[in-house]
Amino acid sequence: MALTVPALGFTFVAHLLGAVSAVLVLVWCIHFRGGLAWEATNKSLIFNIHPVLMLIGFIVLGGEAIISYKALPWRKEMKKLIHLILHAIALILGAVGIYAAFKYHNESAIVNLYSLHSWVGLGAICLYAIQWIFGFIIFFYPGAAPAIRGEALPWHVLFGLFVYLLAVGTAELGFLEKLTFLENSGLAKYGPEAFLVNFTALVVVFFAAFVVLSAVLPAHTEDNMSYTAITDE
Ligand code: HEM
Ligand code: HEM
Repeated sequence: MALTVPALGFTFVAHLLGAVSAVLVLVWCIHFRGGLAWEATNKSLIFNIHPVLMLIGFIVLGGEAIISYKALPWRKEMKKLIHLILHAIALILGAVGIYAAFKYHNESAIVNLYSLHSWVGLGAICLYAIQWIFGFIIFFYPGAAPAIRGEALPWHVLFGLFVYLLAVGTAELGFLEKLTFLENSGLAKYGPEAFLVNFTALVVVFFAAFVVLSAVLPAHTEDNMSYTAITDE
C-alpha cells in the first residue's frame, strides 16, 4: 500500500501555519512581554530572544528546509542546496537562541540546565547538528558512492523527521514551562496572554504535522486524474 496524495497542497498549508506561528510569537514577546534586547537591565528582554529565535529560526526555518524538496519547482540540485543552506541557518539561529537563554540565566543569577526542556532541547540541537554533518558528507561533499547514498537516504529521512519532532516537542515544553512560570507569578490563567501562548503552541503542532505530511507524501503521483477501482490489496 502506498500514499498517493501529492504533497504540494500540504506544503502551502505548512507555509501558512509557519507564518502564523512566527507572527504570534512576535506578538507575544514584543507586545505582551516588553520586547527583545541583547543587552538590558531588564533581563527578561534578553530571555525573549530565546522563544523568538527557537521558533522562527529553528522550528519554522527547519520545517521550510524539510519541505523544500516538495514545495519548490526547481531542479533537484538546486533544491538540495536550498535544503542544506536553510538547515544550516536554522542550526545557527537555534544555537544563538540557546545562547540567549544561558545569557539570561547567567546575568540573572539563575542556574542552568535544571529542566527537562533544557535537557531535551540540548539533545535535539546536538542531534540536529550531527544529522546536518552526516547529510552534508553523504549527499553533498565529498558525497558517498551512489549505492551508499541509496542505503543512507531512508535513514536520513527517518532520523531527520525524528530529530525535527524532538525539537518541536522541546518548543512545546518551553511554551508550557514559561507560561507556568508566568501563571505562578500572577498571570491570569484564562487571560488573553495565556490564551495566545497556548494557541501559538497549538499552531506549531499543526505546522509540524503538515511538515511531516509534506515529507512523507510523494512529490508526484502517476495518473492521479483518472478513476481507478478500489481493490483490496
Ligand atoms: C526547539 C526549540 C528550543 C530549544 C532547543 C530550547 C532549548 C533550551 C535550553 C538548552 C535551555 C537551557 C538554558 C540554560 O540552562 O541556561 C532553555 C531554557 C528555557 N527555554 Fe527553551 N528551547 C526551545 C524553545 C523554547 C520556547 C519556544 C520557549 C517558550 C517560551 C522556551 C522557554 C524556555 C524557558 C522558560 C527556559 C528557562 C528555563 C529552563 O532552563 O528550562 N524554549 N531552552
Ligand atoms: C539537520 C539537518 C537535516 C534534516 C533534519 C534533514 C531532513 C530531511 C528530510 C526529512 C528529508 C525528506 C524530505 C522529503 O522527502 O520530502 C530529507 C531529504 C534529503 N536530504 Fe536532508 N536533512 C538535513 C540535512 C541535509 C544535508 C546537510 C544534506 C546535504 C545535501 C541533505 C540532503 C538530503 C537529500 C539529498 C535528501 C533526499 C531528497 C529526495 O531525493 O527525496 N540533508 N532531509
